[in-house]
Amino acid sequence: MPDTNRAMAKRAVNDSPGESDPRMSSPESKGTARRPRIVAVAGARPNFMKIAPLLHEIRRRGTLDVFLVHTGQHYDAVMSDGFFRDLGIPDPDANLGVGSGSHAVQTAEVMTRIEAILLEQRPDAVLVVGDVNSTLAATVVAVKLGIRVAHVEAGLRSFDRDMPEEINRLLTDAVSTWLFVSEPSGERNLLREGTDPARIHFAGNVMIDTLLAQLDRAKSLDTVQRLGLTPRNYAVLTLHRPSNVDDPARLAALFDVLEEIQQRLPVVFPVHPRTADAIEGRLGGRALKLRTTPPLGYLDFLRLMADARLVLTDSGGIQEETTVLGVPCLTLRVNTERPVTVEQGTNRIVGNDPDVIRAEVAKILDGETRHGRIPDRWDGQAARRIVDVLEHDLRELAAFD
Ligand code: UD1
Repeated sequence: MPDTNRAMAKRAVNDSPGESDPRMSSPESKGTARRPRIVAVAGARPNFMKIAPLLHEIRRRGTLDVFLVHTGQHYDAVMSDGFFRDLGIPDPDANLGVGSGSHAVQTAEVMTRIEAILLEQRPDAVLVVGDVNSTLAATVVAVKLGIRVAHVEAGLRSFDRDMPEEINRLLTDAVSTWLFVSEPSGERNLLREGTDPARIHFAGNVMIDTLLAQLDRAKSLDTVQRLGLTPRNYAVLTLHRPSNVDDPARLAALFDVLEEIQQRLPVVFPVHPRTADAIEGRLGGRALKLRTTPPLGYLDFLRLMADARLVLTDSGGIQEETTVLGVPCLTLRVNTERPVTVEQGTNRIVGNDPDVIRAEVAKILDGETRHGRIPDRWDGQAARRIVDVLEHDLRELAAFD
């Protein structure tokens, strides 16, 4: 870590909701140095609900300049544009248009294209969120140009290096200056890896900032009726991890048990493009006996989850959202990088064994559910805590220039 970073003492993250750290806005500090500049990066669907509250908070304060880069990792209207609209994210200042490709190609394309932007913008920091290929690519380029990186949702670990996201998380955290963690395990993992505690800030969960900000709006939608469903009498399914969809035998076995569940209650399945490709190709166009839909927008999907009897998923973010909504979640994976959702929330890790899935669904339908509690700092204030720290530290650094 550069010396100037080391010199920055760990900031106590201001905990009182609604108020910014007074150091940020004192008249003496305002205007004494140039305005620090951040390049914020988002690329794939789960990034958009994480970057949105950070951009809103930065814009609300008007004390930092921000330049938004969309890498274009996700590019379909339903995977990208709709999220920008629903969440009030401003149009990106640059869209790198990288699209799909192998991991190497996708990561390399983001790296090549973002380097030119960072050289032109010369930001004081690059802000990245989550664990997708765009997160890692932007981070590597920034640190090699000597630009500090702030990683939001740092420290999560599944301890499964077969997951591309785990590699992205480990490498991004290793070289980021600011590590903003969303749950206690994030801090534990980083400390175990030998991370300087001064780099770690327990900020809370920005994805939940977005959920809490949008829930009322989502609840006003008629999504449940429009899909012909009755509140609390349907399941929601999402499936897109390579570990579930890339192996045809495993995917077919999962669909067999899910179709059995559909005989007890409707299973609504918005199909991710990766999974649609797998059904078409690897499963020879199998006609699923589930209520399939195209991918849904953020608000429609939130509406659907909020009134579901249960959710079955292999997503990371959905494990967190169901915990806050108090809806039972069965995670179709053998591990989770978000253990607080199991320890405190409504999540159970059920893997992909059909017998276990069948039994766990039966328990929920028979009324055996856990309500759980909402984890600490999943309170709608995570973006405020993060921007407090960045604003303070970047101003201090700008004063050295
Ligand atoms: C990516 C992230 C994953 C995240 C997921 C959410 C990585 C390594 N993976 O996985 O962590 O949970 O996003 O969706 O970064 N496609 C489209 N339209 C699009 C985007 C993708 O049709 O707008 C199709 C393409 O066929 C593409 C495939 O989906 O090859 C996979 O997209 P990709 O971005 O490589 O990974 P995801 O599976 O979406």
